[in-house]
This record gives sequence, C-alpha cells and structure tokens, in this order.
Amino acid sequence: QIGLQTTAFGQNIHYEESVDSTQKIANRLANEDAAEGTIVIAEEQTLGKGRLSRNWHSPKFTGIWMSLILRPNIPFHEAPQLTLLAAVAVAQAIEDVTELTPEIKWPNDLLIKGKKVTGILTELQAESDRIHSVIIGIGVNVNQKLSDFPKELQDIATSLFIESGVSISRAALIQQILRNMEKLYHTYLQHGFSPVKLLWESYAVSLGKELKATTVNETIIGKALGITDSGVLLLEDKTGKVHPIYSADITIPRK
Ligand code: BTN
Repeated sequence: QIGLQTTAFGQNIHYEESVDSTQKIANRLANEDAAEGTIVIAEEQTLGKGRLSRNWHSPKFTGIWMSLILRPNIPFHEAPQLTLLAAVAVAQAIEDVTELTPEIKWPNDLLIKGKKVTGILTELQAESDRIHSVIIGIGVNVNQKLSDFPKELQDIATSLFIESGVSISRAALIQQILRNMEKLYHTYLQHGFSPVKLLWESYAVSLGKELKATTVNETIIGKALGITDSGVLLLEDKTGKVHPIYSADITIPRK
C-alpha cells in the first residue's frame, strides 16, 4: 500500500518482484489499452533500459523502478515536454521527502552534487501525428550504498541515501512523485508548457554554461541559451550560430 493521494495516477498498479524492464510491460499494457495513469513497478529489473541504448542498473529493493502510462491528446512533437515535466515532478518529490535539492541536467537527468540520482526514459506509441500513449520510465536510486553500484558507476552515480545519510521510504517517494506528476500534468494540459518550463529552468544546472553535446552525427560545443517551448536545447557556438539539440549526451567540457 503506497497511500496514494491522486485521482488517476497510480490507481492502477501493476507490481512485480522481478522483471526484465518495467518499460516493456508498460508498452504491452498500453497496447492493451490500459487506463491513463497506470503504473508498472518492480523491486528489481534484470535488463533495465536507459537512454541511448544504455543499461540501467536496477538492483533489488533499493530503488524506484517505475513506468507510467499517459495518453495525452497532444501532437507528436510535443511529447518531449512530458519528459521535462517528469523530471520536475521527481525533483520536487525529492525535495518534499528529503533535505536534498537535485539539479536537472538537460534533458532529464537529476543530479546531486554532479552525480546522477535519477534517470528518465520516455517512449512513445504513435500513429502518424497522433499519440497513442507515452510511457515515462523513472529510475530513482534511493537506498543504495556506494558499494551497491558497479565500480564503473561509483564516480558518476549516487543515491538519496548516500547523499543524505538516512534511508528513505520508497513508498512515500513514489506517492509524492505521482502526486506531483498528476498535478503538473493537469497544469500542462490546461495551460500548456510555459509553467512547466519555468519550473524546469529553476532546477536546471547547465543554462548559461558551456556544454558539449554529442549527437549521433556530430559534437557541438556551445553556450546553453535555454530550452525552446518544445523542450529543445539551444547551444550557441563560438561563431554565434545557434544549434537546436534534439537528442544528445551532454557533458561539461574541461577547460
Ligand atoms: C537514463 O538513461 O537516464 C534513463 C533511465 C531510465 C530507467 C527507468 S527504471 C524504470 C524504467 N524501466 C526501464 O527499463 N527503464 C526505466
């Protein structure tokens, strides 16, 4: 029982002890017309999926591995806005439940002291320009100790426990994430992306700084000017040319 205070989000819970990936199950449920707000949660993922075809380390009982099904009536190209919305909702939930304040690295990594504590993966089911469903996958490192992370992640990943020194109730955090998501989602459907964008910017670490974006085709170094109304990152290179970045790996280059 996670003591929900929502009307739709999380009212349908598909819970599993161990799965390959909650995204896979949520995609299947979405195809079977699961209601908006349905969530899939697992204690452990054996093949957790990250962005850019990476793996997501999802050990048993220590984190939140959850996928949420949404069915917004928005055009295809606006779907990335929902990823940014999810990042804001999780950042707020971490602030609500712990003493920590995460920062957002575009598009949707949540960092604490520069280390990753949350990843968000959005997948779409669409026919031409009509969205059938959006699956938002949220992974939060909650109670891992440093030694629970594989060696190669120990310098770049962290957990709420590592950063705060106290163990955190996963149920309370899930409840708060869903509550914040539902509230923001309603704001978004009623008033559009602007209020969400303002919140996103208030958590963003990288605006105004020089960033390196590695896309499938090229590497661009430039100053982050901000995000557009559709959630696209704008980088200004040395010559003053502005590059829209739709999908990339972002790092802060060493001087
Ligand atoms: C990233 O690369 O930063 C995104 C990570 C997303 C991980 C979550 S955990 C729940 C859901 N199921 C998955 O297989 N991946 C997402």
